[in-house]
Amino acid sequence: MNELPRLPARLRPIVESLKGSRIRAVSDSAFDRPGVIPLWFGESDRATPAFICEAANRALTAGKTFYTPNRGIPALRETVAAYVSRLRGQTFGVERVTITASGVNAIMLVMQSLVDAGDNVVIITPLWPNCADAITVLGGEARRVPLIPGDAGWRLDLDRLFDACDARTRAIFLNSPGNPTGWVATPDDLAAVLAFCRQRGIWAIGDEVYERIVYAPDARGRRVSPSFLDIAKPDDPVISVNSFSKSWCMTGWRLGWIVAPAAYGETLGKINEFNISGATTFVQEAGVTAIRDGEPFIDEIVAQYARARDLVAQRLGGMRRVRLARPEAALYAFFQVDGMADSLAYAKEILAKCGVGLAPGIAFGPEGEGWLRLCFATGPQRLSQALDRLEPLLS
Ligand SMILES: Cc1ncc(COP(=O)(O)O)c(C=O)c1O
Repeated sequence: MNELPRLPARLRPIVESLKGSRIRAVSDSAFDRPGVIPLWFGESDRATPAFICEAANRALTAGKTFYTPNRGIPALRETVAAYVSRLRGQTFGVERVTITASGVNAIMLVMQSLVDAGDNVVIITPLWPNCADAITVLGGEARRVPLIPGDAGWRLDLDRLFDACDARTRAIFLNSPGNPTGWVATPDDLAAVLAFCRQRGIWAIGDEVYERIVYAPDARGRRVSPSFLDIAKPDDPVISVNSFSKSWCMTGWRLGWIVAPAAYGETLGKINEFNISGATTFVQEAGVTAIRDGEPFIDEIVAQYARARDLVAQRLGGMRRVRLARPEAALYAFFQVDGMADSLAYAKEILAKCGVGLAPGIAFGPEGEGWLRLCFATGPQRLSQALDRLEPLLS
């Protein structure tokens, strides 16, 4: 690659020092290469279902092309409030809901409102890198507490988590179901974290973008992951960030939401004014339809992903060099490879030799070194083909 010319003036040093995505470091070399089976990104290979696209088309045709309120159109805020109330079995008023332009935008708005230079947010790792970057780009520290891997899955050490918090800690950030691990926090984990946050006067942030992609019903027969919202009171220091990307296959639409105490919502609206001034109008209209009519679609994709998960667990788990715990939720097989020292170099080697695109574990932090992530949200034929190609290298 050619050296770029020097910039004519300086940028913030923290911005200049940001590392590019290590997933893209693998994918950029082969984005359009024919024959590659891309399992590196966290998205389904299914396009958004037609009934949602049609709702966006109808909104465009009806002239829904103007600015919206910073916190979102009332219809979508009301729809989200009713949806969260239904999922969580208690009432969430519309004043608790702010619409955002994606989950990552929701995370950034929250961090902008919490993190001053020198503050820290404690995160549970390995973790999708954008969460840590949103903290560091503001001059904060993303303080990492690793999950403990085991044959039966991942476990959170609560003592370690609480020990990591100090006087400059502003929040604990808990992504459950987790990307890349598929770890799901237990109701006891969540109750303990919430009690700690209440006592310390810090925020408990739940990143719940995979809340519907769970493979077993809970004790109450619900197919949704446990959340701080199940147990929090309206004024508890709890923030839930969410997204339309995964539940309704809408990654490219950029739509999400935040549930937070009512008194915080106005602040989020103010911050949103100079970030995006409201999510795209006709996309918000389509979001209403996605939630209102989308339950059968969610059932369908989760059934597909469950079959894919079983196939991957059986085939990949049977390969000699692989150690894999069957994920409980989300879209990923995150597995250890015996003898692999450099996951980035190895992901590139796999791409070159097998034509399969995987994400290197190092993309999710130093704890991810030695691991690879495979997104199984793809059709059974392509998935089987990818596993056939991986077999000679990993067996
Ligand atoms: C853990 C986690 N949080 C948030 C997001 C953000 O999703 P989006 O910005 O597409 O809504 C992702 C996307 O992969 C994710 O994996």
